[in-house]
Amino acid sequence: MLVRGGRVVDPTQPLDAMRDVRISNGVVVEIGEHLDARDGEPVVDAVGAIVAPGFIDMHVHLREPGFPEKETIATGTLAALRGGFTAVACMPNTNPALDAPEVLARLAEIVARDARCRVYPVGAITRERKGAEPTDFAALARAGAVAFSDDGNTVMNARVLRDAALRAADVPGVFISHAEDEHLKGDAVMHEGAVSRALGLPGSPAVAEDVIVARDLLIGAETGKRWHIAHLSTRGALEALQHARAHGGAATCEVTPHHLLLTDETIRSAGAAGKVNPPLRAEDDARALRDAVRDGTIDVFATDHAPHTAAEKSGDMYRAAVGFTGLEVAVGAYALALPDLPLLRFVDLLSCAPARVLGVAGGTLRVGSPADVTIFAEHVWTVDPAEFASKGRATPFSGMRVPRRVLATIVGGELYRVAPALT
Ligand code: DOR
Repeated sequence: MLVRGGRVVDPTQPLDAMRDVRISNGVVVEIGEHLDARDGEPVVDAVGAIVAPGFIDMHVHLREPGFPEKETIATGTLAALRGGFTAVACMPNTNPALDAPEVLARLAEIVARDARCRVYPVGAITRERKGAEPTDFAALARAGAVAFSDDGNTVMNARVLRDAALRAADVPGVFISHAEDEHLKGDAVMHEGAVSRALGLPGSPAVAEDVIVARDLLIGAETGKRWHIAHLSTRGALEALQHARAHGGAATCEVTPHHLLLTDETIRSAGAAGKVNPPLRAEDDARALRDAVRDGTIDVFATDHAPHTAAEKSGDMYRAAVGFTGLEVAVGAYALALPDLPLLRFVDLLSCAPARVLGVAGGTLRVGSPADVTIFAEHVWTVDPAEFASKGRATPFSGMRVPRRVLATIVGGELYRVAPALT
């Protein structure tokens, strides 16, 4: 296959130039100018589009095994392809949790049968994600886990977390923190601030995240375990990360599109569609996050795609499920949040950096790499959840006009066209 006429943006070479990309047997075999199609070679016209190493979303909830009414491997990975992601890492809050090799083996069977993109499992840090007993990290890694997290829950007992980090010290997978202090959070349904007070809803203060981020970075530094902060959402957590780095720490972090672009004010109009953990924060936090993307403090863009059924997302803020779908909105929403971000940096955040943090293949178009490619364009479109492949249709981005759109994804040389216009 020849992907012809696009602007190839690959921070790993580094390359930002008009080039053609030849793919053969699932691998990038040649990048050059004005390459000729060989006899019978399919040509993908990428004129006017940007051609990047395939995007990797290191934080999604695919819900299998256990919750196929919310999402399946089939629907979640199709949503990934449509959103421009050629690989995803799936979180362990399934039923059963991804806390044992047998469960990962069962997941691998479903993935082999149904997945449309690459799927990398994240193993649980504690058994049943209950925060008490560390899992067998080496066994989980052998069964395919590329990272470890109790995402959805915080490991509240610092002694358990430290013990887990020490046990996992020689296992390559990074530890990923879901940072919300349960006691400070209480029964909150949104961020604590002027809006929660005006609406009379219980709020979770920013400091509930800050204290756990600070704690986990200290435990990471002390144990030597490699660490990553999921869906970082507060100015205070950023400051904790900067402090840790100033003292030699190497932890990484990710930010979601919703925490960059939306705030607690969104809850006034979106209601339960905007209910998420950690919650949509204050404008000051969102501004700090955008600055932190620009200045390099934030490493990774990740969606926290968290689909639920329409019934679960209906009702008031107390009853509604926490989280919403993100895969099919992310590329447009990130571009809306950070319109001036250089493309090389945009691609690094969505592709190269998650590959580095997870230690997985991809994140590059260098000759010899797997042919995982995302083709996208500067094109304004309106988010319409009715068009989602995901079963999760709730999103506070519904109806929003966003300036960047995915045209096609290529996984191991297999083309999936998102926009029919691409010939
Ligand atoms: O809003 C969220 N929903 N945050 C999480 O951390 C978990 C997720 C879910 O699984 O629904």
